[in-house]
Amino acid sequence: MFGQPIKILVTGAEGQVGQALQELVAEQSSFELISLAQAQLDITDARAVQVKLGEYLPDYLINTAGFNDVDKAELESQRCFQVNRDGVENLAQACGEFGVPMLHLSSDYVFDGHYASGYTEQDEGAPLGVYGASKWEAEEILRQLLPRHLILRTSWLFSECCTNYVRSTLQRGLNEQPLLAVDDRRGCPTSALDLARVLLAVIQQLHNGADAWGTYHYSGAEISTLFAFSEAIIEEARQYDERYQSVMLKAVASADYPTEAQRPSSSILVCRKLLHTFGIRQRPWRTELSQAVRRLYQTSA
Ligand SMILES: NC(=O)c1ccc[n+]([C@@H]2O[C@H](COP(=O)([O-])OP(=O)(O)OC[C@H]3O[C@@H](n4cnc5c(N)ncnc54)[C@H](OP(=O)(O)O)[C@@H]3O)[C@@H](O)[C@H]2O)c1
Repeated sequence: MFGQPIKILVTGAEGQVGQALQELVAEQSSFELISLAQAQLDITDARAVQVKLGEYLPDYLINTAGFNDVDKAELESQRCFQVNRDGVENLAQACGEFGVPMLHLSSDYVFDGHYASGYTEQDEGAPLGVYGASKWEAEEILRQLLPRHLILRTSWLFSECCTNYVRSTLQRGLNEQPLLAVDDRRGCPTSALDLARVLLAVIQQLHNGADAWGTYHYSGAEISTLFAFSEAIIEEARQYDERYQSVMLKAVASADYPTEAQRPSSSILVCRKLLHTFGIRQRPWRTELSQAVRRLYQTSA
């Protein structure tokens, strides 16, 4: 009566989005996930990529693997390009060989951040740093090598696990007084769980025959500054931990908060194309944040 589950191979499976996909698929029978962490598949190893793809022959591949430490990328550019660009090339080659469509996550960092009103999929990449350049070059390679690809750019990803702005803000909140937060960078936070839902919804439609390959944007709804995002994070944490009651936030300009990498001042991604093509609406990041912080305290209790 029921069809075969859609078989999806996920790379970088221990990251935020990799874990979120595993959690979602555990609740439903329409997908079968083959989740490979870096220890099981290093995407920089072209031969290993080819062998794994041939072994599993999935219906789709989702690449969530990446070198995502934007500051470290400035110091370790070779490794960053090796993972983010050459790794994607290896995956695209193998996908081409075995006829597997590939979904790949990219970033707001492919843009320079000068468009305050936001970036559409038609805007040309103009990365400011090594990480953004590695992501842009990967996109270009994927577009060239594999017609059946879907690139999903997103911004300010968070979840209750791994390394992300929510967790680092909560950590810093206990150690820094006042807690400094940049108020001249604008963007939309995105929950990894929400993004995983989008990826599965897109795959379901592609599988039902939607001929909608290409580049798309998805982020949580409501434009924010990093300062406003930090305020929301601390406010959520106050429900679970008394120590955050006394945390004071102080707004600073990016120029007063120097980092190794230059960051785009506008990370706003216009998400209309995804809505018009797949009917997927942006979900408010505030409700997703609330859940992520609650889950963070539940798992650490
Ligand atoms: N985080 C953000 O704010 C953000 C924003 C926009 C776009 N994105 C993009 O979204 C995607 C997913 O992000 P995320 O936050 O879920 O990433 P994440 O939590 O940093 O996870 C990435 C995973 O990739 C793995 N990895 C690193 N090098 C690898 C390699 N050579 N082979 C296989 N796996 C490797 C890492 O393993 P180890 O932990 O063992 O190194 C890690 O588990 C990435 O492509 C990222 O560029 C992220």
